[in-house]
Amino acid sequence: MPPLPVDLLRWYDRHRRTLPWRALPGRTADPYHVWLSEIMLQQTTVAAVIPYFHRFLDRFPTVADLARARQDDVMAAWAGLGYYARARNLHTCAQAVDRAGGFPRDMAGLLALPGIGPYTAAAIAAIAFGHPVVPVDGNVERVTTRLFALTDPLPAARKAIALQAATLGDAAEARARPSDFAQALFDLGAGICTPKSPACVLCPWQAACAGARLGIAASLPAKAPK
Ligand code: ADE
Repeated sequence: MPPLPVDLLRWYDRHRRTLPWRALPGRTADPYHVWLSEIMLQQTTVAAVIPYFHRFLDRFPTVADLARARQDDVMAAWAGLGYYARARNLHTCAQAVDRAGGFPRDMAGLLALPGIGPYTAAAIAAIAFGHPVVPVDGNVERVTTRLFALTDPLPAARKAIALQAATLGDAAEARARPSDFAQALFDLGAGICTPKSPACVLCPWQAACAGARLGIAASLPAKAPK
């Protein structure tokens, strides 16, 4: 039986994390904020990103401000976050967005931007524009492998896991609130369906979770030996 995403959204409405790049309940997030946070969150934790995100927006309040900034100033605002190619791509991407007069609202347009891959494009499309797509990061991979008890190891199974994750977004409840659904999956993965010792008793999907039923949730996703 497929899980009932309505349970996830009800859980999210009660437990959603307040994060600086998130819109208030019922409001639409700014694509600039979503994009910036998603780039910062690649390889960096939420707690470490928060002060950088605030400082960055203080210096570059809009994507146009970022586009017109000197590269040195962008690198200075990024200093400490690491992976400096991200900052250079960020600046180039801001210039492309500024030239185009704003962020593209569809997946194809988002994917054509520098530094934006399938995950980031899906995150922006779902969170800022309400497209019914599921951004698949490590959290969503973990939730998906457990929910469906997918035991084939990463990295070979990554494509199959992503296809299965995409089916989560097909449910009517997910389609009604794609932005909240994507963020609910992040919060579930970060707070409940954690890599070690998942808190299955608190999980809104516990009854539907094949991994929990089989007692193998904590061992998933399986990883191929190096
Ligand atoms: N991890 C990746 N993207 C995130 C987001 N938008 N909110 C919380 N955690 C995330």
